[in-house]
Amino acid sequence: MLNPPAPEVIDQLNRPIKDLRISLTDRCQFRCNYCLPAEHVDVMRQQSQPEKHLSFAEITQVVQAFAELGVNKIRLTGGEPLLRKNLSTLIGNIKKITGIDEVALTTNAGLLDPVLDDLVNAGLDRITISLDALDQDLFTQITGTNVKVDNILRSVDRCLSSRLKQVKINCVIQKGVNEDQIIPMLAHFRGTSVVVRFIEFMDVGNINGWQPKQVFESQQALKLIADRWPISPKPPSNVGEVANRFEFDDGMGEFGLISSISEPFCQDCNRARLSTQGEIYTCLFATQGHHIKALINKPIELLEAISQIWKQRKDQYSSQRKNTTAKNKLPKVEMFVIGG
Ligand code: GTP
Ligand code: 5AD
Ligand code: SF4
Ligand code: SF4
Repeated sequence: MLNPPAPEVIDQLNRPIKDLRISLTDRCQFRCNYCLPAEHVDVMRQQSQPEKHLSFAEITQVVQAFAELGVNKIRLTGGEPLLRKNLSTLIGNIKKITGIDEVALTTNAGLLDPVLDDLVNAGLDRITISLDALDQDLFTQITGTNVKVDNILRSVDRCLSSRLKQVKINCVIQKGVNEDQIIPMLAHFRGTSVVVRFIEFMDVGNINGWQPKQVFESQQALKLIADRWPISPKPPSNVGEVANRFEFDDGMGEFGLISSISEPFCQDCNRARLSTQGEIYTCLFATQGHHIKALINKPIELLEAISQIWKQRKDQYSSQRKNTTAKNKLPKVEMFVIGG
């Protein structure tokens, strides 16, 4: 029996809830130095409790509640979401929920090839693949895997010839490490429908040892690109979009810049995150989540709890970053726990 739709909830800063990112596992086979550096892999091993991960049935119930509160977009993430088996079953179940317009996946693509067709057939709408360098040695150095760039590029090509509506690449730029990949990356994907987004290295989590001097600001990236190709800004495709969009004037496609450090975008942030253990996080930089696992089989209480969590939300970490003093810096949740 369907409940009557709950009224749309807004938070303390008047932001609705539109986008739910679900971390399917806090494990990953990559060791990206900006997320899960190899020397800190113990943190993942100690924190991860796979036996306590929400089941697909539990996740589906949480999505149902979020959909009733206004969420229309689901992003499956991790850790590496493809480490969970039978993902197509979950995608199929989420797609049946009234109000959910699209399901997207963020992946490192290392395990994508064999399951891509199943995911697309189950209804996956969009995919975002992480790729920080085209240069093989640099890619290996950043990601700590032996996965080949060529294999990832082949998976991107297969995504392009599938029924997916959109294929994006996430490329985290660390100053002095991979800014020289910006032009080659765009030269490679220009002329395809792939949208590459260059992301400023963020101070998310604790173990990546982030320092301000490691940030290559989007304005610098923009200058490099504009010196090479004529480009123009494009309007956002939806409210709360994280990337500033640009297009090549010669019609060869678009790219994006995600500037959480130099140009925070908290004012329209409509994203909630669900951890593997059943906690809701209302900010990527949160120090704590809200436990809702115990309410999962009580739909009315679950709906009310999520609604209250969102109504009390005041997060705007990136906008206030500069005011955060060392004294009030509690350990933040790691990115591999709640996903990008
Ligand atoms: P779609 O709109 O669904 O295509 O996704 P998106 O544009 O939001 O992109 P995606 O979810 O792939 O996010 C891209 C990157 O932006 C992430 O990997 C993060 O690095 C960053 N990001 C996403 N959401 C947030 C956020 O709420 N706050 C901050 N500071 N950064 C974010
Ligand atoms: N800064 C910026 N982006 C990050 N990601 C992970 N850690 C960071 C960080 N410290 C993003 C990458 C990756 C996604 C899963 O999370 O874009 O593609
Ligand atoms: Fe894994 Fe993604 Fe983190 Fe890299 S950024 S270690 S691929 S979860
Ligand atoms: Fe949203 Fe927090 Fe990111 Fe700001 S810092 S955009 S509030 S998740």
